[in-house]
Amino acid sequence: MTNPTLLILPGDGIGPEVMAEVRRIIDWFGAKRGLAFDVTEDLVGGAAYDVHGVPLSDETMAKAQEVDAVLLGAVGGPQYDTLDFSLKPERGLLRLRKEMDLFANLRPAQCFDALADFSSLKPEVVAGLDIMIVRELTSGVYFGEPRGIFEEGNERVGINTQRYTESEIDRVARAAFELAKKRAGKVCSMEKANVMESGILWREVVQKVHDESYPEVELSHMYADAGGMQLCRWPKQFDVIVTDNLFGDLLSDVAAMLTGSLGMLPSASLGAPMANGRPKALYEPVHGSAPDIAGQGKANPCACILSFAMALRYSFDQGDEATRLEKAVETVLADGVRTADLMQAEGGAPASTRQMGDAVLAALDASL
Ligand code: IPM
Ligand code: MG
Repeated sequence: MTNPTLLILPGDGIGPEVMAEVRRIIDWFGAKRGLAFDVTEDLVGGAAYDVHGVPLSDETMAKAQEVDAVLLGAVGGPQYDTLDFSLKPERGLLRLRKEMDLFANLRPAQCFDALADFSSLKPEVVAGLDIMIVRELTSGVYFGEPRGIFEEGNERVGINTQRYTESEIDRVARAAFELAKKRAGKVCSMEKANVMESGILWREVVQKVHDESYPEVELSHMYADAGGMQLCRWPKQFDVIVTDNLFGDLLSDVAAMLTGSLGMLPSASLGAPMANGRPKALYEPVHGSAPDIAGQGKANPCACILSFAMALRYSFDQGDEATRLEKAVETVLADGVRTADLMQAEGGAPASTRQMGDAVLAALDASL
């Protein structure tokens, strides 16, 4: 039997540093759990632009279509700010999402007990928090046409278009209901049906999918602004939240911060099943490239490590091994190992990226 294949795209900023730790974790699963992967590495974002003049080469795009799963670090950096829009690092990531048709972006926001004090909210509001945001990832205002900056009379006008088809809403709603069935059985759908026609359609289609196929799941609807407010007021009222591309971008950052640090949050972007039954899939931390700390060995690798745990669960049917890795991270945090992002002002010297990786590997060893 051939090994499953992984394409690793470390990208920019802290991407390569955190991915180096993930490589060690992947090797651990190969050596200690008989889960060997065939890993190839390639360029995305500014790193690809520097070499190829584009943020994602056609060759890399083709490879991404062929592998069992893609693991991405982060893209972007201030040195690329003045590039033409089509060449910006972010376009590399957006091309992967669009061409792989990764319509369901799973962003869990879980509060590790050891970090409940780190949230800007009161510990009792976030302790034990476990919600899943399902963000539509291939449509909406991110991709809708017409778009651009145009001349109109004696001034310019910037245009983007929010556009959703029924089938696009239908498929992401199904993904959310399927997840809810394996969790607490609740879905809250968020849009702005009070001001946007696309929101009216969104609400209608989500309700229809529910009534026809998932009556056992509890469905509620909320305007996205109120949803943001409720996320900060009492986040534990939610189980699965399903929302569009732009609202999902915003709300998932809000939800992430509830948990104390963006440095802890993984994500999975899933598409339709491939010939081998596995979904098209890309896994990436929710945090960005953090250019201010890049190259200093300070970054927290946990979000990227936990993204690999999601890959074990959603691409490779290794739920128990995913749980093993998540538990290892939890143990390390409970033991007080802290990268700089997880420290209060008064704390001692923070752990480096490498030390955090070492600690997770030691916890994995101890789990055997
Ligand atoms: C995210 C990021 C991206 C997005 C950027 C880097 C294009 O903010 O994944 O949340 O806006 O989707
Ligand atoms: Mg974002």
